[in-house]
Amino acid sequence: MVSDAVSSGQRPHVVCVPYPAQGHINPMMKVAKLLHAKGFHVTFVNTIYNHNRLLRSRGPNALDGLPSFQFEFIPDGLPETDVDVTQDIPALCESTMKTGLAPFKELLGRINAGDDVPPVTCIVSDGCMSFTLDAAEELGVPEVIFWTTSACGFLAYVHYYRFIEKGLSPLKDESYLTKENLDTKIDWIPSMRNLRLKDIPSFIRTTNPDDIMLNFLVREADRAKRASAIILNTFDDLEHDVIQSMQSILPPVYSIGPLHLLVQQEIDENSEIGQMGSNLWREEMECLTWLDTKSQNSVVYVNFGSITVMTAEQLVEFAWGLAATGKEFFWVIRPDLVVGDVAIVPPEFLTETADRRMLASWCPQEKVLSHPAIGGFLTHCGWNSTLESLCGGVPMVCWPFFAEQQTNCKFCCDEWEIGIEIGGDVKRDEVEAVVRELMDGEKGKKMREKAEEWRRLAEKATEHELGSSVVNLEKLVSNVLLGE
Ligand code: UDX
Repeated sequence: MVSDAVSSGQRPHVVCVPYPAQGHINPMMKVAKLLHAKGFHVTFVNTIYNHNRLLRSRGPNALDGLPSFQFEFIPDGLPETDVDVTQDIPALCESTMKTGLAPFKELLGRINAGDDVPPVTCIVSDGCMSFTLDAAEELGVPEVIFWTTSACGFLAYVHYYRFIEKGLSPLKDESYLTKENLDTKIDWIPSMRNLRLKDIPSFIRTTNPDDIMLNFLVREADRAKRASAIILNTFDDLEHDVIQSMQSILPPVYSIGPLHLLVQQEIDENSEIGQMGSNLWREEMECLTWLDTKSQNSVVYVNFGSITVMTAEQLVEFAWGLAATGKEFFWVIRPDLVVGDVAIVPPEFLTETADRRMLASWCPQEKVLSHPAIGGFLTHCGWNSTLESLCGGVPMVCWPFFAEQQTNCKFCCDEWEIGIEIGGDVKRDEVEAVVRELMDGEKGKKMREKAEEWRRLAEKATEHELGSSVVNLEKLVSNVLLGE
C-alpha cells in the first residue's frame, strides 16, 4: 500500500514536468496535487518564462511552495521576455525538444545532491517533453508520460506515422485541402469509427514534409513507448474502446480523469495545496457573482482557451451572432485573441448587449462551467474545456482551432452527442442559428440530457475508493511510481 511506503520513512519524490502551455500545466498541477495527497514529495518544474508569468498573474508568493511541494524551473530555450505573449507552439516544441535535456539533468543532479529533500524516485512528464525520458533512464527511475489530450486525440497521434507511410501526409499541395479530400475516410485506426481526414489532429494536414509539428508529434508519440506507463485525463466509460486498443501497442495506459473532479474530491480547496493555482492569466472572479443572479441554464458561455487566435472579422461575426440570439452571455476575450491586433468588439455591440452580457479577459473556468446558470458553451474543444463542460452537464457548440481539437469535436458531436459543430469560416447567421439550437432547440435539449448522463458517469469514475479513475490512480502509484 502507498501509505506503508510513506510511513516507512522518506517520502517518495516525484518530479512533475508539464509542457509549458496553459492546457498542459493545469492538468499536470492536478496530478501533482493528487500525488502529494498520496504522500509524495513533489517538485513541479515550470519553464522560467511561465514561472515569472505565474508570479505576475498570481502574486509574488504564489510559487513559494511548501517543504514537501516545491517549484523549480528550467529555460525553454527561446529568447527571454517578461511580456505576456501568445505562445508560438512550433517554436516552443522545437526549442524544448532540442535544449531541454541538459538543464533538466542539471536540475535533477542539484536536487539529488542536496540533503534537504528526499532523492528523486520517479518522474511524471508531459508527452510533449519526452527529453525527460533520457534523464529518467540515466537516473534509473520510472517515468510516467502524461498525455494531456483525449485518448482519441492521442491514439490519432500514435498513428500519425502510418499516414506518412500511406502517402496521406504531408499533402502533395494545397489542392489536396478540398472538401472532397478532407472527407477521405480513415477507417484503419482500430476502435476509431467513421473518421475523416478532417477529424485527425490538425498537423497532419500540412503540405510541408519538414513541418515542425508533424515531425514533432510523430517523434513524441513514438518516444512515449519508452515510458513505464502512460496516464490520460479521461475515464474508462467515456473512451473505453480507444483506451483498450492502446493497451496492446503502448506501455500500460491508466485513465485517471476527469482530474479536476478527483482534485475537488480529494483535496480541500482552502488548504495550502488546494490554493496553489496554475493560471497564467489573472482570474476575474466577478463573473461568478453575475452568474448567481441568472436563472438555470440561461447563459451562453464563450471561451476559446489559451492558444486559439482568430481574425478581427471572425471576432465581429461571433459578436453580432451572439447579439442576435437575444440570449444572456458571458464571453471571455483574451487580450491576445485576435491575430496581430488588439481584441476589440464593436462599440455598437457593447451598447446593444449592455444589459445581458458579461465580458472578461480570463475567468475561473472550472467554476463557471459547473455553475447552474450556464446553459451552453461555445468552445474551441480544447481537451480540458471539453471535460470541464461535460462534467458540468453543459452541451457545446464546437469551433475547433488546432491540434486534436478537431478529433475532440468529432467525438463530441458523433460519439458522445453533446456538441454541434460550427463552420470554420464563421458567419454571424450561423452563430445565431447554432446558439439558438443549443439553448432552446430540440437538439440542444437532447445534448443537455446526454451531457447530464456523462456528468453522472464522470462522477462515478471519480467516486471515492470505488471509481475506475480512483482505482487506476492507486494502481499507477503502487505498480509504477512506487514499483511495489
Ligand atoms: C490546448 C488543449 O488542451 C489541447 O486541445 C491541445 O492539445 C493544446 O492545448 P487550450 O487551447 O488552452 O489548450 O485549451 P484547454 O485544454 O481547454 O485548456 C485551457 C485551460 O485553461 C482549462 O483548464 C481551463 O479551465 C483554463 N481556463 C481557460 C481558465 O481557467 N480560464 C479561462 O478563461 C480560460
